[in-house]
Amino acid sequence: MPNILAIESSCDDTAAAVCINGRMASNYIATQDVHRKYGGVVPEMASRAHLQNMVPVVDVALKTANCSLAQIDAIAFTQAPGLIGSLLVGAQFAKSLALALHKPLIAVHHMQAHVLANLIDAEQAPSFPFLCLTVSGGHTQIVMANSPLDLTVIGETIDDAAGEAFDKSAKMLGLPYPGGPLIDSYAQKGNPLAFKFAQPQISDLNFSFSGLKTSILYFLQKQEPGFIAENLNDLCASIQYTIIEILMKKLKKAVLQTGIRQVCIAGGVSANSGLRSAITDMGVRHKWKVTIPKFEYCTDNAAMIAITAHYKYLAGEFANLDISPSAKATW
Ligand code: KG4
Ligand code: ZN
Repeated sequence: MPNILAIESSCDDTAAAVCINGRMASNYIATQDVHRKYGGVVPEMASRAHLQNMVPVVDVALKTANCSLAQIDAIAFTQAPGLIGSLLVGAQFAKSLALALHKPLIAVHHMQAHVLANLIDAEQAPSFPFLCLTVSGGHTQIVMANSPLDLTVIGETIDDAAGEAFDKSAKMLGLPYPGGPLIDSYAQKGNPLAFKFAQPQISDLNFSFSGLKTSILYFLQKQEPGFIAENLNDLCASIQYTIIEILMKKLKKAVLQTGIRQVCIAGGVSANSGLRSAITDMGVRHKWKVTIPKFEYCTDNAAMIAITAHYKYLAGEFANLDISPSAKATW
């Protein structure tokens, strides 16, 4: 106990997972390719694709877990934040299922779930308290976790998110959306010190990436035609290096301020190979205990919603059937 069916539909991935007594029995995702040609997520298309994908995705998740709907103890869904039209599809599906099955409903915060993705693999889970650098397409936060349901944001971006910094930089280089993974792969063949870009000077634990964006734009505008194609690897490596420097400086500061040396990362950008090795190196150098989620638990997935719901179930935190999703990130 409990067996949880979790649904994630906050952006452009329709995902479902089944968690049996805290162990992930299935984790299935249908990624929506329809947005690729538009250079970003088109909200209405995302909602429509969720509507089409939801039933088959849930079906695969249940079948893979070898679990019937009758064996499910609670239905969990992403309540906030995200694209409202996308959230509405998952919320309505979860509420209807909970009503039809007479099972409790659990509302999950997407950013809290990214942090708790670190608890999915019990063998390598961080111990409490820990710090988590959550870096996604919409958010960049440093979170202090005292227990699964006691999380405090101690630093966050004041403008763009780290994932946006990757995606917007990639766009300036003429790369398709989402550019983060592409920058990652070109960067592996480039020199991270080839070009120098601006880093913000913010004294607290907050982040800013808008200056970097402007610095890259002005730099590229000064170059001759053909410059990007000739220097793509070095440009990607230097941009990635700067983003990682900005992130790691603040994380180091948070460790010093809180005295918490158990550190982890989460969110789509935590799939970045440069960030994964930077935090691992930092751990070795500064004697931090570092844990990194598996790739499939970094980008949006329903397993993270399921593990969060598992803890909410144990704490008796259920939602009423009149709950609405929210696009905003307040938690
Ligand atoms: O967590 P996520 O899947 O969705 C949100 O909640 O936003 O994060 C998506 C972000 C995108 O900006 C994407 O470019 C970035 O994560 N991303 C990466 C990598 N994989 C995904 N950024 C850099 N390197 C990667 N390997
Ligand atoms: Zn996310």
